[in-house]
Amino acid sequence: MEDLSLHILDIVENSLMAGARLIEVAMEEDPAGDSMTITVSDDGQGMAPEFLAQATDPFVTTRTTRRVGLGLSLFKANATSWGGGLEVKSQPGAGTTVRVWFQRGHLDRPPLGDWPRTLCGLILTRQEVDFRYLHRVGDQEFELDTRELREELGPEALADPQVMALLRQQIAQALDQIGVAQVPAPPGGF
Ligand SMILES: Nc1ncnc2c1ncn2[C@@H]1O[C@H](COP(=O)(O)OP(=O)(O)OP(=O)(O)O)[C@@H](O)[C@H]1O
Ligand SMILES: [Mg+2]
Repeated sequence: MEDLSLHILDIVENSLMAGARLIEVAMEEDPAGDSMTITVSDDGQGMAPEFLAQATDPFVTTRTTRRVGLGLSLFKANATSWGGGLEVKSQPGAGTTVRVWFQRGHLDRPPLGDWPRTLCGLILTRQEVDFRYLHRVGDQEFELDTRELREELGPEALADPQVMALLRQQIAQALDQIGVAQVPAPPGGF
């Protein structure tokens, strides 16, 4: 079964393909209300309304390498089966927001997976893009903004695999502290 981090990576890859320079990922878990919402917003090229209307259809893609686009439709089908759904809002020239919600404790809902590794891999390999990540569980939260990190640590820091390996461990620890159930990160770098 795909874990959530792979689904989120799919959505972030769409934002990268759309030329985004800032990608914001927010995960909001409400244990009391048994819900989880994941929102990915970007400032990429956006989609025209007529295209947007069918963007979660598995046969819609602007890819030329493969005929079927699956990222959005697969996540939508899965979120729906976990008691939720997926919604896309987009404005040509301004950006796109994908919101996915589902029952947090649904029996078929996969774990988050190694999201700290996924995120740090994205940050490391896409230096031209800034990422903002917010994770909330009840009234606890963790926040990261690469614009702030670049300012604090210097512009080269996020291109250093050793710094990123440390950051990855710190994120994993922080998520553990706010109560995100995760696959334990193996020791070492990437
Ligand atoms: N954030 C976005 N900004 C602009 N267009 C988007 C965005 N997300 C999706 N799209 C458009 O919607 C289409 C469908 O996306 P989807 O992720 O479902 O499939 P895909 O990216 O084409 O293929 P796959 O994800 O299977 O590699 C994309 O080809 C793209 O044209
Ligand atoms: Mg895609």
